[in-house]
Amino acid sequence: MDEALLVKMVWLFLPLLLSHVSAESFSVVVPETTVSGQLGGSVTLPCALSDNLDVRKLEVRWYRPSMYSSPALLYLNEKLDQSIADIKYQGRVSLPGPLEKGDVSLKLDDLRSSDLGMYMCHVSSDRWYDKNNVSLRMQGKAEQ
Ligand SMILES: *[C@@H]1O[C@H](CO)[C@@H](O)[C@H](O)[C@H]1NC(C)=O
Repeated sequence: MDEALLVKMVWLFLPLLLSHVSAESFSVVVPETTVSGQLGGSVTLPCALSDNLDVRKLEVRWYRPSMYSSPALLYLNEKLDQSIADIKYQGRVSLPGPLEKGDVSLKLDDLRSSDLGMYMCHVSSDRWYDKNNVSLRMQGKAEQ
Protein backbone atom coordinates (compact mmCIF):
# COMPACT_ATOMS: atom_id res chain seq x y z
CA MET A 1 0.00 0.00 0.00
CA ASP A 2 1.48 3.39 -0.92
CA GLU A 3 1.92 6.08 1.67
CA ALA A 4 -0.57 8.55 0.22
CA LEU A 5 -3.30 5.97 0.34
CA LEU A 6 -2.43 5.11 3.91
CA VAL A 7 -2.68 8.77 4.94
CA LYS A 8 -6.05 9.02 3.20
CA MET A 9 -7.30 5.98 5.07
CA VAL A 10 -6.24 7.39 8.42
CA TRP A 11 -8.13 10.62 7.70
CA LEU A 12 -11.11 8.61 6.60
CA PHE A 13 -11.27 6.61 9.81
CA LEU A 14 -10.16 9.25 12.28
CA PRO A 15 -13.67 10.62 12.97
CA LEU A 16 -14.86 7.08 13.55
CA LEU A 17 -12.04 6.42 16.01
CA LEU A 18 -12.68 9.67 17.86
CA SER A 19 -16.42 9.12 18.14
CA HIS A 20 -15.67 5.72 19.59
CA VAL A 21 -13.33 7.19 22.20
CA SER A 22 -15.83 9.82 23.31
CA ALA A 23 -18.48 7.12 23.75
CA GLU A 24 -16.30 5.30 26.23
CA SER A 25 -17.00 7.58 29.13
CA PHE A 26 -20.37 8.88 30.21
CA SER A 27 -22.13 9.85 33.37
CA VAL A 28 -25.44 8.73 34.77
CA VAL A 29 -27.70 11.56 35.89
CA VAL A 30 -30.97 11.66 37.78
CA PRO A 31 -33.05 14.82 37.31
CA GLU A 32 -35.02 14.15 40.52
CA THR A 33 -33.53 12.32 43.46
CA THR A 34 -36.87 11.54 45.12
CA VAL A 35 -40.03 10.35 43.42
CA SER A 36 -43.33 9.54 45.07
CA GLY A 37 -45.94 6.99 44.11
CA GLN A 38 -49.19 5.48 45.32
CA LEU A 39 -49.77 1.92 46.43
CA GLY A 40 -51.05 -0.08 43.46
CA GLY A 41 -50.08 2.70 41.06
CA SER A 42 -47.21 3.17 38.64
CA VAL A 43 -44.19 5.35 39.05
CA THR A 44 -41.19 6.25 36.89
CA LEU A 45 -37.77 6.59 38.44
CA PRO A 46 -35.92 9.05 36.21
CA CYS A 47 -32.38 8.31 35.06
CA ALA A 48 -30.43 9.18 31.91
CA LEU A 49 -27.02 9.11 30.29
CA SER A 50 -25.13 12.33 29.75
CA ASP A 51 -25.17 13.66 26.16
CA ASN A 52 -28.22 11.52 25.32
CA LEU A 53 -25.84 8.70 24.47
CA ASP A 54 -27.44 5.67 22.83
CA VAL A 55 -27.70 3.03 25.54
CA ARG A 56 -28.80 0.05 23.47
CA LYS A 57 -25.33 -1.55 23.34
CA LEU A 58 -24.72 -0.96 27.06
CA GLU A 59 -25.81 -2.74 30.21
CA VAL A 60 -28.47 -1.12 32.39
CA ARG A 61 -28.92 -2.40 35.90
CA TRP A 62 -31.47 -1.09 38.39
CA TYR A 63 -30.92 -2.51 41.85
CA ARG A 64 -31.58 -1.86 45.51
CA PRO A 65 -28.44 -1.01 47.50
CA SER A 66 -26.55 -4.25 48.26
CA MET A 67 -28.68 -6.17 45.74
CA TYR A 68 -26.40 -5.70 42.72
CA SER A 69 -26.43 -9.41 41.85
CA SER A 70 -30.19 -9.66 42.03
CA PRO A 71 -31.37 -6.46 40.36
CA ALA A 72 -34.96 -5.24 39.97
CA LEU A 73 -34.20 -4.92 36.25
CA LEU A 74 -31.31 -5.94 34.03
CA TYR A 75 -31.02 -4.87 30.40
CA LEU A 76 -28.26 -6.71 28.56
CA ASN A 77 -27.53 -7.60 24.91
CA GLU A 78 -30.33 -5.29 23.81
CA LYS A 79 -33.05 -6.97 25.85
CA LEU A 80 -34.37 -7.46 29.36
CA ASP A 81 -32.58 -10.33 31.06
CA GLN A 82 -34.72 -12.24 33.56
CA SER A 83 -32.10 -14.80 34.53
CA ILE A 84 -30.84 -13.06 37.66
CA ALA A 85 -33.54 -10.44 38.14
CA ASP A 86 -35.29 -10.27 41.51
CA ILE A 87 -38.55 -12.24 41.26
CA LYS A 88 -40.35 -9.63 43.41
CA TYR A 89 -40.17 -7.24 40.46
CA GLN A 90 -41.01 -9.71 37.71
CA GLY A 91 -43.64 -8.39 35.30
CA ARG A 92 -43.75 -5.01 37.05
CA VAL A 93 -40.67 -3.29 35.64
CA SER A 94 -39.84 -1.84 32.23
CA LEU A 95 -37.63 0.69 30.48
CA PRO A 96 -39.96 3.03 28.58
CA GLY A 97 -36.95 4.78 26.95
CA PRO A 98 -36.22 6.03 24.40
CA LEU A 99 -33.03 4.03 25.00
CA GLU A 100 -31.41 5.38 21.82
CA LYS A 101 -31.58 8.84 23.41
CA GLY A 102 -30.05 7.66 26.67
CA ASP A 103 -33.25 7.57 28.74
CA VAL A 104 -32.94 4.62 31.12
CA SER A 105 -35.77 5.59 33.48
CA LEU A 106 -37.35 2.65 35.29
CA LYS A 107 -41.12 2.24 35.20
CA LEU A 108 -42.45 0.32 38.15
CA ASP A 109 -46.07 -0.87 38.19
CA ASP A 110 -48.40 -2.15 40.90
CA LEU A 111 -46.47 -0.39 43.63
CA ARG A 112 -46.08 -2.21 46.96
CA SER A 113 -44.86 -0.84 50.25
CA SER A 114 -41.82 -3.14 50.05
CA ASP A 115 -40.79 -1.20 46.90
CA LEU A 116 -40.12 1.96 48.86
CA GLY A 117 -36.57 3.12 49.39
CA MET A 118 -33.47 3.69 47.33
CA TYR A 119 -32.71 2.41 43.83
CA MET A 120 -29.37 2.49 42.06
CA CYS A 121 -29.31 3.29 38.34
CA HIS A 122 -26.14 1.67 37.00
CA VAL A 123 -25.00 1.80 33.36
CA SER A 124 -21.89 0.05 32.10
CA SER A 125 -19.91 -0.73 28.96
CA ASP A 126 -16.88 -3.01 28.72
CA ARG A 127 -14.64 -0.17 29.82
CA TRP A 128 -16.67 2.23 31.85
CA TYR A 129 -19.54 2.51 34.29
CA ASP A 130 -21.33 5.12 36.31
CA LYS A 131 -24.24 5.05 38.69
CA ASN A 132 -26.59 7.31 40.57
CA ASN A 133 -29.53 6.83 42.91
CA VAL A 134 -33.22 7.69 43.18
CA SER A 135 -35.44 7.28 46.23
CA LEU A 136 -39.03 6.15 46.03
CA ARG A 137 -41.46 7.22 48.71
CA MET A 138 -45.19 7.08 49.30
CA GLN A 139 -47.26 9.99 48.09
CA GLY A 140 -48.71 12.24 50.79
CA LYS A 141 -46.46 10.94 53.52
CA ALA A 142 -43.88 13.14 55.14
CA GLU A 143 -40.29 11.95 54.88
CA GLN A 144 -39.31 9.90 57.90
C1 LIG B 1 -26.88 8.91 46.23
O1 LIG B 1 -26.64 10.02 45.38
C2 LIG B 1 -26.11 11.16 46.05
C3 LIG B 1 -26.03 12.28 45.02
O2 LIG B 1 -25.36 11.86 43.87
C4 LIG B 1 -24.77 10.80 46.66
O3 LIG B 1 -24.26 11.90 47.36
C5 LIG B 1 -24.94 9.62 47.61
O4 LIG B 1 -23.69 9.21 48.10
C6 LIG B 1 -25.60 8.45 46.90
N1 LIG B 1 -25.89 7.39 47.86
C7 LIG B 1 -25.53 6.14 47.63
C8 LIG B 1 -25.90 5.16 48.67
O5 LIG B 1 -24.90 5.79 46.63
